[in-house]
Amino acid sequence: MSGALYNRYRPATFAQVVGQEHVTGALMQALRTGRLHHAYLFSGPRGCGKTSSARILAASLNCVNGPTPEPCGVCEQCVSIRRGVSMDVTEIDAASHGLVDDARDLRERAFFAPASARFKVYVVDEAHMVTAAAFNALLKVVEEPPPYLKFVFATTEPDKVIATIRSRTHHYAFRLVPPGALRDHLTSVCTSEGVDVDPAVLPLVVRAGAGSVRDSLSVLDQLLAGAGPDGLGYDRAVALLGLTDGVLLDEAVDALAARDGATSFTVVDKVVSSGHDPRRFAMDLLERLRDLIVFAAVPDAPAKGLLENYSLDQIERMRGQCGRMGPAELSRAADVVHAGLKEMRGTTSPRLLLELVMARALLPAAGSDPSALLVRLERLERRAEAGGNTGPSHDDAAAAPAAATTTGPGPSAGPAQPPTPARVSGTGEVRAQPAPGP
Ligand SMILES: Nc1ncnc2c1ncn2[C@@H]1O[C@H](COP(=O)(O)OP(=O)(O)O)[C@@H](O)[C@H]1O
Ligand SMILES: [Mg+2]
Ligand SMILES: [Zn+2]
Repeated sequence: MSGALYNRYRPATFAQVVGQEHVTGALMQALRTGRLHHAYLFSGPRGCGKTSSARILAASLNCVNGPTPEPCGVCEQCVSIRRGVSMDVTEIDAASHGLVDDARDLRERAFFAPASARFKVYVVDEAHMVTAAAFNALLKVVEEPPPYLKFVFATTEPDKVIATIRSRTHHYAFRLVPPGALRDHLTSVCTSEGVDVDPAVLPLVVRAGAGSVRDSLSVLDQLLAGAGPDGLGYDRAVALLGLTDGVLLDEAVDALAARDGATSFTVVDKVVSSGHDPRRFAMDLLERLRDLIVFAAVPDAPAKGLLENYSLDQIERMRGQCGRMGPAELSRAADVVHAGLKEMRGTTSPRLLLELVMARALLPAAGSDPSALLVRLERLERRAEAGGNTGPSHDDAAAAPAAATTTGPGPSAGPAQPPTPARVSGTGEVRAQPAPGP
């Protein structure tokens, strides 16, 4: 078979619908026990299985073995319904047919018995576009349909569906598919496609698909189209997706943790000279910082499935990064990058702004806002925990006395400065020490 992956891998049974067990389980149970309603509302994000499930429901009702929770998938009804060519299963897009005339027409046709199937099923997509006037034309048939008639309304915006529809339907909410389930699904698609895909590529696809199965399959499709004879490797996928290489993000975070200005500006240079968009980099960096914040707050986040987009060795690197940065510092860096992203919108020199953002993230010492002070306090604490006797030896004695008198003579009482204060390249002196008291 040819065509887009997401068309070729349309689920044919409820068991094949990924990540929607709360819906498919309930529908299968209703089919098993014969407790079927005549009108359903399927809500949820795009590409998560609403249309597919509506077709499976229609097939379950009309399969030669039906009504059954497990349609056979091979009988005439099953096949024509899955392909969307059944005479008795009609899909209507309310976005283009949201009009009263169509509803009247539908009402008239609804009273004819099905042509060849047991049930006549209307699947009304974009149900939030159905106007009250149009639905009123349908109201009677939806409220008291002939026994062979079923409705499935599908929508991405259940809140906008008029109350008269909502109150007459059983509502099933589809969800974004969690990364783990999505990755497993993509793995099985790659296997049946017979292509060799570097396991590190799938997390990238999962991330790009953002929980939508269809979007993920589209991304995978595009990558496979660009894959060489020996499969799809990580570098190629990163390039095709225009993503920031994870290595660059690691370098950036490590540089922030070490207050290493030289490296962080080198990273910016690499981003730009490799043709990447500085905004994209800032966005990816923000996402990484967010994940580190989660990791710092939930040490067993990987086991809990909170960081499913990462490979095991990446998780280990991130564990180290958390240990070196601390929650306040991570959160401040994220704030700085987030604010920078807003400034970068529409700027003519995103590179310059990215450099300024990195400089700001590097230098809490230059800020007197509470979050900068918190970062410095956190660094002090970490140093104290790491063993009081390995305190800094480079601290300028002039800045120390005030602190020393309040916190005792411990060597860690100096200001939280790295031994060699970072300098912003070419932009002049960076204030590395707090001004001594008057
Ligand atoms: N939950 C899912 N499990 C497996 N495949 C899915 C799922 N959701 C979407 N897909 C894939 O995406 C395609 C489009 O899904 P569809 O059911 O039309 O989504 P929706 O109607 O929610 O926008 C399907 O053909 C299938 O390849
Ligand atoms: Mg759909
Ligand atoms: Zn069948």
